[in-house]
Amino acid sequence: MPTLNFKGKPFVQNYHLSAPYHELIPKKDKGLSDKPKLDDNLIVHGDNLKALKALLPTYAGKVKCIYIDPPYNTGNENWVYNDNVNSPMIQDWLGKVVDRDDLTRHDKWLCMMMPRLKLLREMLQDDGSIFVSIDDNEDHHLRMLLDEVFGEDNFVATIGWQKKFSRQSDAKWFSDTYEFILVYARKKESWKLNLLPRTETQNARYTNKNNDPRGPWSPDNLVVKTYSADYDYPIKTPGGRTVTPPSGFCWRVSKQRFEELVEENRIWFGETGNNVPRLKRFLSEVQEGLVPITLWLRDFAGDTQEAVREVKNLLQTEKFDSPKPVKLLTRILEVATDKNSIILDSYAGSGTTAQAVLALNKEDGGNRRFILVECEDYADKITAERVRRVIRGVPKAKDEDLKKGLGGTFSYFELGKPIEASGILSGKNLPSYLELARYVFYTATGQDFDEKKLDEKRSFIGQTKEREVYLIYKPDVEYLKKTALTLDAARSLGPLNGKRRLVFAPAKYLDQDQLAQFRIDFSQLPFEIYKLAG
Ligand SMILES: C[S@@+](CC[C@H](N)C(=O)[O-])C[C@H]1O[C@@H](n2cnc3c(N)ncnc32)[C@H](O)[C@@H]1O
Repeated sequence: MPTLNFKGKPFVQNYHLSAPYHELIPKKDKGLSDKPKLDDNLIVHGDNLKALKALLPTYAGKVKCIYIDPPYNTGNENWVYNDNVNSPMIQDWLGKVVDRDDLTRHDKWLCMMMPRLKLLREMLQDDGSIFVSIDDNEDHHLRMLLDEVFGEDNFVATIGWQKKFSRQSDAKWFSDTYEFILVYARKKESWKLNLLPRTETQNARYTNKNNDPRGPWSPDNLVVKTYSADYDYPIKTPGGRTVTPPSGFCWRVSKQRFEELVEENRIWFGETGNNVPRLKRFLSEVQEGLVPITLWLRDFAGDTQEAVREVKNLLQTEKFDSPKPVKLLTRILEVATDKNSIILDSYAGSGTTAQAVLALNKEDGGNRRFILVECEDYADKITAERVRRVIRGVPKAKDEDLKKGLGGTFSYFELGKPIEASGILSGKNLPSYLELARYVFYTATGQDFDEKKLDEKRSFIGQTKEREVYLIYKPDVEYLKKTALTLDAARSLGPLNGKRRLVFAPAKYLDQDQLAQFRIDFSQLPFEIYKLAG
């Protein structure tokens, strides 16, 4: 497979593995939940590389649908957010990771995207998918990068979205009216697209001109182009006219099948009984829904103007220049999620994805959940504020549901310190028990950490099919200096239940026989955290 090369690639292609894990700090006053928790709807304020890494222990393999709308790299720096890779945050990150100064704008953008896409892929369920908005600036690079990260066989489609209706008369060349949404499945063979609900307009095409007891129907063409002499025969209409297919065409069915269809009253010869015959397609027999097409016009999926209006109506004073319309996100959710899906948007902006999730849940009684990540300071004032308002209700909204409030909760988190083995060793920036437990459990077992199973008193942090995992730790240097896995501590792990026990502690005072007696595999903090990983 041809692959894309860009400067900096060797430095970033495995960066997602070595990027440090950061603590997630709950901010109760910014969320709308009694108790902030990770299995709630989430808004995380911070760089998405760090945020995704921090969410990985809880959400790896759990997300059904990812929508991202990353900076398009237009070079336009006058927006509320920097639409290019020269933002101080990305510059700083590139400096640390890539450390070379001959990168072009496109190299930088690709360096920024690659590790993030790799983390996003790890978040997806086997039957999950990712939808990525993009325009001409990076579309061609992105397609190749996605081929590399997700596998070219998992490419599903490029959707063309009509972002603008009116012509821009001052455009230098073409006035661009659409952009793209690239769709990839995690594993295409396990992925199924939902059919779209039929609309009233589509159903209105079905009428019942002859009061057929089978209900409304629509006349369909009986003539086809793929010629077969067997299907080319004269038909006598009830009014006495003889009709034949136009030259080079034939009927869709054989003579015998045609006669059966007439018997079944499935052929329509028009009001007079003298028209060219048509096939009656009954509404009750057409598919439950419609196969989505790849051209999404504004009637179907909204446009940019509509999106700007939506944000303005909701936030009044706050300005956000490049939102997507709720309708566009709703379409994506309709085709790519079910009622219990988790949806991730790691370039959240004004939080459109959250509103679409809450609105669709309200409409169809679903329990979808969203995870949003936004790095800019407006994560609270714009992203979370929009979500708070749509949950509580927007008095001036035209939409009745929105007026009353869509309901729901969300928890707001910020990124804390990185958890680094060297930090534990030096006693600086020690993570909390919960944070280290989440990190250790996931890194050592590769499985999801469940906070509810944690029992700090027993040092128990979770179990897999084969082993129980224990962590003897406190964020206190003095405690760590003098604490070890002792005989008493081994006894206090409780009765053996056939599983091996993986115990993390700063030291051990047990010999190999004693470890074997208690079926303990010992891992010394901090360096052996990785012992069983990968
Ligand atoms: C085009 S906007 C997304 C708009 C969004 N779809 C909406 O409807 O409002 C891109 C957003 O991604 C954010 N962003 C860019 N780089 C990021 C990063 N590394 N981590 C988190 N957010 C990032 C920007 O601050 C900006 O708000």
